[in-house]
Amino acid sequence: MTLGEGRAPLAGKFIVLAVTGGIASYKSIDLARQLTLEGAEVQTVLTRSARAFVQPLPFQVLTGRTPIEKMFPVEGGDHPGDMPHISLTEKAHQVVLAPATANAVAKFARGDGDDFLSTLLLSAKAPVIVAPAMNPRMWSSPAVQENIRLLRSRGHIVIEPGVGRMARPEEGEGRGRLPENAEILAEIHKVLLPNPDLAGLRLLVSAGPTRERWDAVRYLSNRSSGKMGFAIAEAAAGRGAEVTLVSGPVSLSDPAGVKVFRVETAEEMRIAMLDAWRNADAAVMAAAVADYRPSAPLDEKKKKESGPAAIELERTADILAEMSESKGRRILVGFAAETGQLAENAMDKLRRKKLDFIVANLVSGEENAMGADASRAIIFDPSGSGEELPLQEKYLLSRKLLDRITKMWQKSS
Ligand SMILES: Cc1cc2nc3c(=O)[nH]c(=O)nc-3n(C[C@H](O)[C@H](O)[C@H](O)COP(=O)(O)O)c2cc1C
Repeated sequence: MTLGEGRAPLAGKFIVLAVTGGIASYKSIDLARQLTLEGAEVQTVLTRSARAFVQPLPFQVLTGRTPIEKMFPVEGGDHPGDMPHISLTEKAHQVVLAPATANAVAKFARGDGDDFLSTLLLSAKAPVIVAPAMNPRMWSSPAVQENIRLLRSRGHIVIEPGVGRMARPEEGEGRGRLPENAEILAEIHKVLLPNPDLAGLRLLVSAGPTRERWDAVRYLSNRSSGKMGFAIAEAAAGRGAEVTLVSGPVSLSDPAGVKVFRVETAEEMRIAMLDAWRNADAAVMAAAVADYRPSAPLDEKKKKESGPAAIELERTADILAEMSESKGRRILVGFAAETGQLAENAMDKLRRKKLDFIVANLVSGEENAMGADASRAIIFDPSGSGEELPLQEKYLLSRKLLDRITKMWQKSS
């Protein structure tokens, strides 16, 4: 996959990323990659248990620095004569603990210094960002909760773990999942980028699919995952915007610092969006709202019958068109998911709905943007000119869109 260059908002920042031993440790490899992509210098620290789950090599290759694993340097090793548990925190703009095991949290709360990580944490100069991940029963245990309270009371930033499927399906769902990397990044941005360029902007974002009921158990929907809208909301909040997110049914947890409304149908989304639009300066409509719904949904479950069946459909309301009627000088951005004639269809939608720009992407073939983590896109503006954005992860793409919105917002205010 080619990654877009994106901005380097963390250029010049030095981040210590400490990885402890849990199932979610592998996700930190991607976090290290994302931080590096954003221009940060990243030094990883692995506990002995983390080594049971991940190897140092990917961290080394991605960050260009050998992970530190031991308290006492071996002779001729990477840090001879150095005291990295002190010098690293002297230099670090931010220490991030992700994932944080129950054990690491306890040691940090207690002030242990019996390995490299715990000793390093003792010398941290500024609040540490802690992203816990553990089994829900462990997370809800009084001991862990007490330690978390203690860390928070000392000013450390503990991100609430997410709710979701646990490592083994039979464990079911519960709170304890490692917060999404995007959420951890947003928290890092909040701390390290104190002059957010979207401060004061009230941004409304829609995300995800809608579900249109056909009978008591079935519905029509689409493959939208909500990742694009959530990435935009999260990145905008990280840049200081006051963000309201209206989402259809998705399995993503609420982004930090964002007001979230969960809806199901196109009509529910319409009501929530029009209401929030009254108090917004800009809106990005990234949801894949159903254009049609069954005209006569059944209260019962439809029984199996022989022969073909048909569902009669009716049009749903066009939310973006309604929003554009009361647009005024506010910023309105749409998405066009097309299977062909991308430019023509996107420009047609942009003109009909008086959009400031539209993000067009293909939802067919190998690079189907819907549901994927990465997407290629073209941004068209009213002049008809298109900016091609290479295949890149949605969180990077979201930043490009926000750069545009920032420019427009700064021009108008
Ligand atoms: C397969 C496996 C998965 C584990 N997953 C977690 C986890 O997600 N969270 C956690 O707090 N501990 C987890 N543990 C327990 C920790 O690895 C153990 O408490 C260890 O001492 C943590 O060391 P560290 O905090 O120094 O990395 C797991 C253990 C095993 C064997």
